[in-house]
Amino acid sequence: MLNKLSENEIKDIISTTTIKNEISNCKWFAKDIYVYDEIDSTNNECKRLAERGIKHGALVIANNQTNGKGRRGRSWYLEQETGIAMTLLLRPDIKPYNASSLTLVAAMAISKAIRDIAGIEALIKWPNDIVVNGKKLTGILTEMSADVDKVNYIVIGIGINVNTKRFDEDIVDKATSLKLETNKNYNRNTIIASFGYHFEKYYEKYLKTNDMTLLMEEYNKYLVNIEREVTVLTRDSSYKAIAKGINNTGELVVRMDDNTEKTVSAGEVSVRGVYGYV
Ligand code: BTN
Repeated sequence: MLNKLSENEIKDIISTTTIKNEISNCKWFAKDIYVYDEIDSTNNECKRLAERGIKHGALVIANNQTNGKGRRGRSWYLEQETGIAMTLLLRPDIKPYNASSLTLVAAMAISKAIRDIAGIEALIKWPNDIVVNGKKLTGILTEMSADVDKVNYIVIGIGINVNTKRFDEDIVDKATSLKLETNKNYNRNTIIASFGYHFEKYYEKYLKTNDMTLLMEEYNKYLVNIEREVTVLTRDSSYKAIAKGINNTGELVVRMDDNTEKTVSAGEVSVRGVYGYV
């Protein structure tokens, strides 16, 4: 009885055909797509497939993850069929020390896609969370296989809360979704395709310098932390500073109390807002 259902009630299904139709303007993004109803983690599956030789730009998507992984060993909650869990495989000819910027490039592409599609202010919390109204909409987990001076492959795993209506108590204060922010439902295929289109554009710029030189101005424009007081958390201490924006290598420049500037790198520290998550 499809015609009795309102548009919002029609089940949003991840469809390779729909994504392919919507990425006709892409050069290499998602030419190969692997969709799973359920998998441990799209990052894990993408790494397994990468070892078997799948191509640059291949995309792994799942409706459900049984072991979704977040940063710093945390897990990632995906409400079945309402969120996006996808992992993009890259095989760039770059040095391992240039790889960390790619996670910032992905954040820029998601921020742009969400702003275009939902018309909301989707900002970047350094290095790569997307936040809306101070709550987390998207997380990115980037992993790499490399030799000493050569990248074999990079997987960029992205979790986006799309049509999710509620979150568990432990994350309800920190997490949000497009549905909760706009009271509308979104087609996940369209968001995936839009991300790919923008990622290709930003990636092209990244490859010109293998860093954020040509992207940092735009990144800083959407950086939620800019000119805000943040708490920088190191392994065994924490201090307060003002975030000034990223530099060309993607590190965060912060101004200390004594007016000196310092750069912090995402591998070593994380930042929090002084009064909360941002
Ligand atoms: C974070 O902690 O903010 C990063 C979360 C990344 C979650 C995504 S969901 C798709 C991909 N597969 C995973 O297991 N993790 C990433």
